[in-house]
Amino acid sequence: MPQPWSPQSWRNFPIRQVPDYPDPAALAAVEARLKTHPPLVFAGEARNLMAGLAQVAAGKAFLLQGGDCAESFAEFHPDNIRDTFRVLLQMSVILTFGAAMPIVKVGRIAGQFAKPRSGETETRDGVTLPSYRGDNINGLEFDAASRTPDPERMMQAYAQSAATLNLLRAFAQGGYADLHNVHRWTLGFIAGSPAGERYRALAQRITETLEFMEACGITPDSTPQLRATDFYTSHEALLLGYEQAMTRIDSTSGEWYDTSAHLLWIGDRTRDPSGAHVEFCRGIRNPLGLKCGPSMNEDDLLRLLAVLNPENRPGRMTLISRMGADRIAEKLPRLIRAVAREGASVVWSCDPMHANTVTSASGLKTRSFDRILKEVKSFFEIHRAEGTHAGGVHFEMTGQNVTECLGGAQAISEADLASRYNTHCDPRLNANQALELAFLMAESLRAERMKEARFAASA
Ligand code: TRP
Ligand code: MN
Repeated sequence: MPQPWSPQSWRNFPIRQVPDYPDPAALAAVEARLKTHPPLVFAGEARNLMAGLAQVAAGKAFLLQGGDCAESFAEFHPDNIRDTFRVLLQMSVILTFGAAMPIVKVGRIAGQFAKPRSGETETRDGVTLPSYRGDNINGLEFDAASRTPDPERMMQAYAQSAATLNLLRAFAQGGYADLHNVHRWTLGFIAGSPAGERYRALAQRITETLEFMEACGITPDSTPQLRATDFYTSHEALLLGYEQAMTRIDSTSGEWYDTSAHLLWIGDRTRDPSGAHVEFCRGIRNPLGLKCGPSMNEDDLLRLLAVLNPENRPGRMTLISRMGADRIAEKLPRLIRAVAREGASVVWSCDPMHANTVTSASGLKTRSFDRILKEVKSFFEIHRAEGTHAGGVHFEMTGQNVTECLGGAQAISEADLASRYNTHCDPRLNANQALELAFLMAESLRAERMKEARFAASA
């Protein structure tokens, strides 16, 4: 029998990646204040997302999850939110059209602040300070004041998340995401690129299709789905004091929901089945993500699924594999087979970013677009071979014209990296690279569908 769960039961379990706050009373005071603040999302919305993910698990939809590695206070600006959102819209439209499948859209946004770190401390020129853990915990600047964890930062992260989510809701529901605006989502700097050209041609076909449908009487008034889209939020459930303060009982179902985001995921460094992060997540009813790195074996995975989803509810678990382009072929098929043998319902998603990070000659963290593409392609091939659904992807991307990942059609080189390298944490795909990837995935999904159609016809 599982032990009783409560929003604070994680406090009795061993915990990793925990900030060392100098003033525990100040931390407790901030957490108490946060508890009185309104929820950011509704339990009903989290249930809708779970229903969407259940469709993905059943092979009838595809998950697109993306956004910044880490949000920051310094880069908080409506234009940045809009630009990330419009690239996600463009990717969604490419995928919806190409794959002829509903796309479940989830941002890594409006709460993605906390970062797991490989070292507790960082040393520069003989000075050792706590590592930067994300803007909701401490500052990136390398001085003692900024690196000391400050609980007040949680309040600022809450406020920024609320304002970000408010704008995203307005964009998604208020007309900006209307399919008739498909041409307007293009960012200036991608207009002339190959992916930009390809997008323009696709947008033209969609516009013609909408005109044809309109002539047949299908308009945004008769069919409101043309005018709006459901957009969900997600982040890593890392800073558990914050997550606990945002966890509330839903009056409709009487169940606990973490109202800081629709979906929360558990990182590869904090997925110990008997640790605090797994304990916290097992009791909330939100859909959950679980990062699966190369050290995840079949037994660990099945044990985690039993703890996190004992009733095997479809849509509850999204397994986000992050194996690296070289290891995915060796590591992923075993996990897929173990899950299939167990009859567990899961969404298989691919994070081609986190195991393909290298340090460039100039000392910047980067990722090569070729490696990212290679991992995504392998992910689709493996699922085709296993007869399972390649259910989704998880990207770090931005609407800004950054030069953080090498390669792509713009052929970003080592020498270009420094010119617009703005990330607070990991290198992100820029809009051009994100669109290129979306086109590639749309083709793979279409191939998957064609294969199924041929199979159905010959059966
Ligand atoms: N409501 C549909 C959907 O979300 C169609 C749609 C409206 C759409 N606006 C969109 C799809 C923007 C992608 C992007 O899928
Ligand atoms: Mn990252």
